[in-house]
Amino acid sequence: MNILVTGGAGYIGSVTVSALLQEGHEVTVYDSLVKGHPAALPAGVRLVKADIGDRDALQQMLAGRSFEAVMHFAALIEPGESMRRPDVYFENNLCKSHTLIQQAVAHGVRRFILSSTAAVYASKDSPIEEQDRLQPANVYGQTKLMIEQMLEWYRLIHGLHYAALRYFNASGAMPDRGEAHSPETHLIPLTLQVALGQREVIEIYGTDYPTRDGTCIRDYIHVADLARAHVLAVEALEQSDRAVYNLGNGSGYSVREVIDVARQVTGHPIPSVASQRRPGDAPILVASSERISRDLGWQPQYPDLRTMVETAWEWHRSHPYGYG
Ligand SMILES: NC(=O)c1ccc[n+]([C@@H]2O[C@H](COP(=O)([O-])OP(=O)(O)OC[C@H]3O[C@@H](n4cnc5c(N)ncnc54)[C@H](O)[C@@H]3O)[C@@H](O)[C@H]2O)c1
Repeated sequence: MNILVTGGAGYIGSVTVSALLQEGHEVTVYDSLVKGHPAALPAGVRLVKADIGDRDALQQMLAGRSFEAVMHFAALIEPGESMRRPDVYFENNLCKSHTLIQQAVAHGVRRFILSSTAAVYASKDSPIEEQDRLQPANVYGQTKLMIEQMLEWYRLIHGLHYAALRYFNASGAMPDRGEAHSPETHLIPLTLQVALGQREVIEIYGTDYPTRDGTCIRDYIHVADLARAHVLAVEALEQSDRAVYNLGNGSGYSVREVIDVARQVTGHPIPSVASQRRPGDAPILVASSERISRDLGWQPQYPDLRTMVETAWEWHRSHPYGYG
């Protein structure tokens, strides 16, 4: 298949691009590089450096080549920032996604896969299923939910086949590709930065949540398992016109538990300090991924947290400044 990957120079996008190439697909990456890294791309991949809100650039690219599918990773991804700057998130994630969807449909693209998120759900103290209550705790999650809803209307009106993949916390790395966000706000890389001596302590945001140790509980999924789900989902959209899937491992780890695993993996004491809660953090988000396992036969290859932290540690040790 000929596939357009927006945000393909980012963390999850670049690992997915590599997986798509291995499966024999042709890939064009479309990324403004506002956060992405050209060095994350496999050699020889075509990169169009442009914004998904740039209608002319989209038109030019889509008119020049026909794509069977769009995988849409491009977004700003920080829940906390979205609570300080909702306008930026509604503009970049929602409005610009609409420009992309509209242009893709106008140029005959039939399949669309959205990087959605666990942040669309209300917090729940047992594994979340796809039909559970949708109640984003932050503007970031709200923008993803609204994109899902737009896609549903484009399905009904224009026959667009779409899948929304609701990832829980992406983590881990491949030997040559890993997490390199700036600023970094994700727990595992921040914790590993302490072990690398780049940061003095790891801050724990909120120690008074109604959870087993007072800290937030999250489900983690290895980035390679996310990439594999995209490969399966784009093939499945030949038959089905709509799919919404959770992607997690069904196990929740508290912030303190993740830090403990990082201590074991790195052998570093990793000091921590308790801080205030961050606006927009739900107490517990853990996935049930039974639906995608049943429908597409997806099974995580790296389900245990220790492996995720070990592969992330390998990446951060060998790339202490990311791609820089
Ligand atoms: N990282 C996670 O744990 C996680 C969890 C759930 C969902 N997601 C979703 O997965 C996707 C990828 O996340 P990531 O961690 O790889 O993020 P990332 O920041 O590493 O990658 C995002 C990419 O999108 C590009 N981009 C952003 N806005 C753009 C625009 N307007 N036009 C063109 N390019 C633009 C950036 O340059 C970057 O390369 C995002 O949509 C995110 O919401 C991520």
